[in-house]
Amino acid sequence: MMVSEIGEYLDRLGGNNYLDSINGTSAEDFAVAIQKLMILDQYANNGDHVLSVGVGQGEELQAIYRILRSKHPKIYGLDISSVAISRAKERMIINQIPNAYELILGDASNIPILNNRINIVVLSAILHEVYSYNQNGIDMWRQTIRESFRVLSPGGVVYVRDFCGPEFTGDVLVEFKDDLSRNFYNVFRKHYRKFESWNGDFVPQIVTPDFPPLSSDGNVILPMGLFAELAMHFRNFWNDCQKDYVSLDTIKDWKEINETYFILNESGKVMTPEEYLSEIREILGSSVSVDMFRKSERITTAKFIQQYLGVRQNNIDPNSLNGSIDTEVLLLQATSKMEIILRKQDN
Ligand SMILES: C[S@@+](CC[C@H](N)C(=O)[O-])C[C@H]1O[C@@H](n2cnc3c(N)ncnc32)[C@H](O)[C@@H]1O
Repeated sequence: MMVSEIGEYLDRLGGNNYLDSINGTSAEDFAVAIQKLMILDQYANNGDHVLSVGVGQGEELQAIYRILRSKHPKIYGLDISSVAISRAKERMIINQIPNAYELILGDASNIPILNNRINIVVLSAILHEVYSYNQNGIDMWRQTIRESFRVLSPGGVVYVRDFCGPEFTGDVLVEFKDDLSRNFYNVFRKHYRKFESWNGDFVPQIVTPDFPPLSSDGNVILPMGLFAELAMHFRNFWNDCQKDYVSLDTIKDWKEINETYFILNESGKVMTPEEYLSEIREILGSSVSVDMFRKSERITTAKFIQQYLGVRQNNIDPNSLNGSIDTEVLLLQATSKMEIILRKQDN
């Protein structure tokens, strides 16, 4: 798939609704963005060059500027979607951000910046997109991590934020607590990662595991990773429904329907956080040190999911000394986020 085709696809299907759904424009949304990125202040020095890969509609750039402005950073924003680039530019102008920034149309897996030029690279909610929109998703995911390191100067850091695969990898029994979640499941499983609207010619290289039909008693058994995928998609669908960006009837044109939020390992299972990190270490070898690796629970998101989906461990071995994992724990694992700070070694 050509890079420009991915950009065109994101512009066409995603467009403004998608960008508005990921980044808001209220003062409260902005405060959340600042809070998310505040950690950068600990790593930034005066005059640093900071690159945001996948700028969305510019909230991230604006937040980076706000946090680091006393250090006079030079900020770069890269995105594969021209709509994202122009929305980000508009946002910088409206907010009267001085001209020390540059917006670049380009691909995260082939960053048009020379080696060793950047001090901080931000990869926030982008790696799962690179993975989702490429036939050879896992290779592009690896390549993007390599590229971020290539443009980084020795001693510089890459900040990764993304979905965090659950630690538990067994099967769970999922119940649907009302018509909305049940109907969502039935439509979602039909269209998930089918790329029907991408000229009909996109076949993901990874065979995405299928979501099975509901059993006669209205439940379904899923590997935990797939439950997490379902739970996060349901939450995003619910949010977008409230804003009228999607409905059950239009779900096949919903951008999120073609995204895998969790990266799969070679056996087709969602990577646990530990597997994710060890893959990164393998890609970057001795050039990387891991300065921080943090999983954050999202209690409100977990509680929200609990209103609509029941989940419990399937087939608990009565002889096991470990007992079963509580529903609350499963929900927290399905909805957690992870943050990683990778540092380029000076060798
Ligand atoms: C979910 S948004 C994240 C926005 C922002 N980083 C944040 O965390 O709020 C992902 C962004 O990545 C962009 N994107 C997707 N694939 C890309 C690629 N291969 N190269 C560059 N940008 C890409 C999308 O157009 C979108 O703007």
